[in-house]
Amino acid sequence: MANRMAQLIQPDGHCVFMPIDHGYFLGPTRNLVEPGKTVEPLLPYADAVFATRGVVRSSLNPAATKPIILRVSGGTSTVGADLANEGITTAIEDAIRLNVAALGISVFIGTEYERQSLLNVGKLVDAGEKYGIPVMAVTAVGKELEKRDARYLALCCRIAAELGARVVKTYWCDDGFDKVVAGCPVPVVMAGGPQADTELEVLDFVHDGMQNGAIGINLGRNVWQSEHPVPMMRALRHIVHESGSVAEAQEVYATAKAEDATLSAASV
Ligand code: 5RP
Repeated sequence: MANRMAQLIQPDGHCVFMPIDHGYFLGPTRNLVEPGKTVEPLLPYADAVFATRGVVRSSLNPAATKPIILRVSGGTSTVGADLANEGITTAIEDAIRLNVAALGISVFIGTEYERQSLLNVGKLVDAGEKYGIPVMAVTAVGKELEKRDARYLALCCRIAAELGARVVKTYWCDDGFDKVVAGCPVPVVMAGGPQADTELEVLDFVHDGMQNGAIGINLGRNVWQSEHPVPMMRALRHIVHESGSVAEAQEVYATAKAEDATLSAASV
């Protein structure tokens, strides 16, 4: 367990995860139509990749040593009846066979399927603990983005941790994210949600979240749907791992963008 946690959380206590699991309910979403291609240039800047077994098998190089957080909940889609009605989709034996560093599962608190998703966490934690595999719980809000307030997120994170999750992934909020983190006895990482209007908005909230106790990020769409995914990833990494300011991160972004442009021009 300690070895796997150390693969996820770096010696500085922080982490940058790269989620490419979205296809499990969104299908081939924008810029993630070919997950292997999307993730390849980003991998050097990621501490771990969050993906389903289907994508791990089909699209990730088995010779690569990047730790994998295996998404093991699902069974719903954006066109189905209710996104919250998830089950566990992957046996622990398959997770072991894939040599994953962690398991990821969503909880849907406040929905009709709250109990089911929480009991799923309990079952998954039981299976994971037996083999030393940590569980990362994802506090999902489905389509109800307005649910992202501190009171609700604090409730979700605490419950997930009480059920045995070793890491909790949740959304940043602007009305007391410090309280969300303070009420959660295990490390909290931030998700991004749908693409923001500007890159600056993302750098701002990630910086604020880090200042208020998050240990890192698990940002997908705001990286790989950005016009400049690698520069965005490098800028975010600067905030998370170098304690960079937003202004510094913007500089990293601008420099990386210029490097990208030079590389593209040279390869034409
Ligand atoms: C999807 C997930 C994603 O890993 C999570 O939402 C992070 O990705 P994004 O930053 O695009 O929201 O759990 O179910």
